[in-house]
Amino acid sequence: MQSVGDPRDKLGTVKRKSWLKWLVIGVLSVIGLALVVAAYQLLSFSRALSKVYDIETPDIVATTDSTVIARGRHLAQSIGGCLGCHGPGLAGGLVDDLGPIGVIRAPNLTTGRGGVGGTYTDGQLARAIRYGIRTDGRTLLFMPTPEHNWWPDTDLLAIVSFVRSQPPVDTTIEPAVVRPLGKLLSQFGVVELRSAAMIDHTASREEIPNPEPTARYGAFLARGCVGCHGEGLSGGRIPGAPSSLPIPANLTPDETGLGDWSKEEFVAVLNTGVRPDGRRLAAFMPFVSTRAMNDVEKTALWAYLRTLPPRAFGNR
Ligand code: HEC
Ligand code: HEC
Repeated sequence: MQSVGDPRDKLGTVKRKSWLKWLVIGVLSVIGLALVVAAYQLLSFSRALSKVYDIETPDIVATTDSTVIARGRHLAQSIGGCLGCHGPGLAGGLVDDLGPIGVIRAPNLTTGRGGVGGTYTDGQLARAIRYGIRTDGRTLLFMPTPEHNWWPDTDLLAIVSFVRSQPPVDTTIEPAVVRPLGKLLSQFGVVELRSAAMIDHTASREEIPNPEPTARYGAFLARGCVGCHGEGLSGGRIPGAPSSLPIPANLTPDETGLGDWSKEEFVAVLNTGVRPDGRRLAAFMPFVSTRAMNDVEKTALWAYLRTLPPRAFGNR
């Protein structure tokens, strides 16, 4: 006998329908909740940008002493990386477009039209470099504060004097921007993009060894490497980085790192960007800066890297 709309079938359809309804409601709720969380985090990021850091302005007045300026130029070219980002005459420009994360543009630091040099006192410049904050006490973005924070006062004076020695250049640079993904990565602690938040402002200042070819001094220089090569210097993808960004190598004495490298091979890479096997490194590895390091700095770095516990590649 042919059943006209079997009641069991109907019941099944109704059950399936309500099951589907709840699935849709569930998925929409999860999406909705994620959107609320994301919106809240984006807002929190923006709010954090208006935080004013109450940090004393270092008592620094630029000098025209040529030895001091020469030291500043050396720092700007090499371990400071300033010229790598702010350009040869510190007139600023595009550093990197990180897609959904943001755009790194370094401002014009000269006193020319469009430059910020004239808006800063020498002390405020020193404060920006050491603590990552603007004239009004708010944080800068992308400036790698931990790389400069440890510099002794003599080097801080040298870098400020060098900045002041640069002739004015008239050029206006758009501000750096952090895009939504960058804000979320920063909020969730994957990468810190707020320069002032990259350092612990309550820590007391460390005693800095003299620039000597020692592992002790090398440990401070290596603060310029950990941002990319990882806290443990074992390399691997930079958290949150787009897949287009080259992957930093392992610098520890492991077999997946610099285990069987000689000091000469290491120095050759810093100078040329070419590995012992002939492969040219991506220019994202700042060998423009490492090339400008002096022998003391290169030797100190090598000495320090040899003291590291070996780690397999990618354990950051
Ligand atoms: C990785 C690239 C990078 C390096 C290295 C770097 N900077 Fe910057 N710097 C930036 C960016 C990007 C900004 C702009 C931040 C912003 O707009 O919030 C900036 C901002 C500044 C400012 C504040 C300018 C303003 O608009 O208020 C000063 C001063 C400064 N940098 C000096 C230096 C000096 C000196 C060095 C070297 C010791 C240096 N920077 C190294 C990227 C860099
Ligand atoms: C802006 C990011 C960045 C910084 C800062 C950086 N590196 Fe690198 N480095 C890289 C990347 C990426 C590679 C791999 C490039 C490639 O494979 O083409 C690399 C490769 C190297 C290599 C080659 C190792 C190998 O096995 O091929 C050495 C040596 C090296 N870096 C040393 C240093 C030292 C020392 C410092 C600090 C003074 C430093 N790097 C700072 C990104 C960086």
